[in-house]
Parts: sequence; structure tokens; C-alpha cells
Amino acid sequence: MLGPDRILAAANFDFTGKRFLITGASGGIGIATIKKLLEGGAIVYSNSRRDLPIEHKRLHHQQGDITDDEFVKDWIASIENIDGFVYSAGMIDPRPIRFETKEKMMKVWDVNYFSAVSLVSQLIKKKKFNKFSSNVFISSISAKAPYIGGSKYVGSKAALEVFSKVMVMELFDKKARANCLAPAMVKTEMYEKGVDKGSQELMDEHIAKYPFGIGEPEDLAQAICFMLSDASRWINCTTLTMDGGYLMI
Ligand SMILES: NC(=O)c1ccc[n+]([C@@H]2O[C@H](COP(=O)([O-])OP(=O)(O)OC[C@H]3O[C@@H](n4cnc5c(N)ncnc54)[C@H](OP(=O)(O)O)[C@@H]3O)[C@@H](O)[C@H]2O)c1
Repeated sequence: MLGPDRILAAANFDFTGKRFLITGASGGIGIATIKKLLEGGAIVYSNSRRDLPIEHKRLHHQQGDITDDEFVKDWIASIENIDGFVYSAGMIDPRPIRFETKEKMMKVWDVNYFSAVSLVSQLIKKKKFNKFSSNVFISSISAKAPYIGGSKYVGSKAALEVFSKVMVMELFDKKARANCLAPAMVKTEMYEKGVDKGSQELMDEHIAKYPFGIGEPEDLAQAICFMLSDASRWINCTTLTMDGGYLMI
């Protein structure tokens, strides 16, 4: 947790004249990232089904379902070329394997993986990538440290990580970069839902395993902006684990 003893030392990024697209905009990580991109002077194209609690002249929000191919086609056709994207749309739906159904699996895979591939497909078809774009996928620490009940979520995130490399290979002439961030627990709506479903006691036990506390959306926003910026120009096809020391202990 960020407290008075652990103030976030915010890095500043200059994104003047740059355009970025972000999905999962209404989520905790999405909103924190949009704020930071706007602070840096970027033009932002965002999407989620819900509207956003912020407005800005450089923020162009399009409400819609990312799993709806027709919607994505029209949305991508309507935007200018971009210098990168953040794929932050995601859903979790934990469930023991014996209660899984193909329908439930498809729903999670659709948001977390298929729609990411479809989005990139549209961006390529419509020639929307500027040269030297930098792109970020929000994966999860669970892709390498799975949890009980995570069969479809962990698989979809692992697939996303491998896909990011395929994308870089296919966009070699555009010199596109793509990196993944793999956070452990971050304090967003996803976390709040977890607290609602599980007992507070279990959650407290889990949080005690983080030497540096659980993450704040701003921790992610900083790392995302670093990955989008030229400060990370030599970093490509990596997955950055962000876990407050959780995996270490
Ligand atoms: N929070 C964590 O502890 C944590 C840990 C590891 C990884 N992650 C990953 O981080 C990313 C961001 O999550 P968050 O923590 O910010 O969670 P969140 O607050 O639950 O946000 C999820 C976002 O995905 C969007 N979304 C879901 N289904 C969609 C659909 N069909 N069409 C369009 N948008 C859709 C939601 O927007 P609408 O509901 O408005 O459509 C929302 O903006 C996710 O990919 C998640 O898997 C989170």
C-alpha cells in the first residue's frame, strides 16, 4: 500500500504529439493510465462499455463491447494512426475446473485473448501503426504462478504473452515493440470483487504475503508509460513482473 511512508515517486513522460489507444479504460488501471498519458500531453483513444469519470479535450472515449468485431472495426476506422496501445480489457470469473463450461471459458477468452488479436488484426489491416510504435498487454502474474480456480484466466493471459511476440514478428518492418506487464494483486474493482467473494480474513492472509503491499493502479500506470515511452526503446518482447515481492517469499 502506498502510505505516508511510501510515497509514489512519479516519473514524468513527455508524450506531446503522440497518440495511444487503450482498452479496459474504465477499470482502475485504465483510468490511472489515461490520467498519466494526458498529463504527458498524449492524445488518447479509449474504450470500455462504461463511460469514463474524466473528460479532456485530448481524450476520445468510445463506449462499446471489445468482443463485438463490428464495433471494433468501426472504432478503429474512426481513429488517427497510433504510436502504440495498451490492452487492459480483462475479466476473471474464478471457478473450479469441475464447474467450467465451454460457454464460460469462451467469455473470458474472448475478452482477454481473442479480442486482443482481433484488435491488432484491425490495426494492421487499416494501417494504423506508426513506425516505432510501442504496445503493452496487461497479463497477470498468474500466467506463471497459477491459482486454484484460474483455469481459463491463466491460460488466456499466458496466450496473450506469447501472442505479443507473434505480433512483433509480423510487424518487423514497422519496428513495433510489444511488452507485457504481469501484475499480482492491484487495488481495483477486480480486487474489490475478490474481497466480496472471499472472506476478508483470507484476503488479509494473502495480502500479508506482499512485503511491499499490494499494488495501486498508479504503480501500473507508471510502468505502462515507461513501456510506451522511448525510455524503454531497447526493451522488446519481455514480460515485466510487478508483485511487490510476492513471488520472492
Ligand atoms: N486488478 C488486479 O489485481 C489485476 C491483477 C493482474 C492483472 N490484471 C489485469 O489488468 C487489466 C485491467 O484490470 P483492472 O484491474 O483495471 O480491472 P477492472 O477494474 O475490473 O477493469 C477491467 C476493464 O476491462 C473492461 N472490459 C471487460 N469486459 C469488456 C468488454 N466485453 N468490452 C469492453 N471492455 C471490457 C472493463 O470495462 P467495462 O466493464 O466498462 O466494459 C474494465 O475497463 C485486466 O486485463 C486484468 O486481467 C489485474
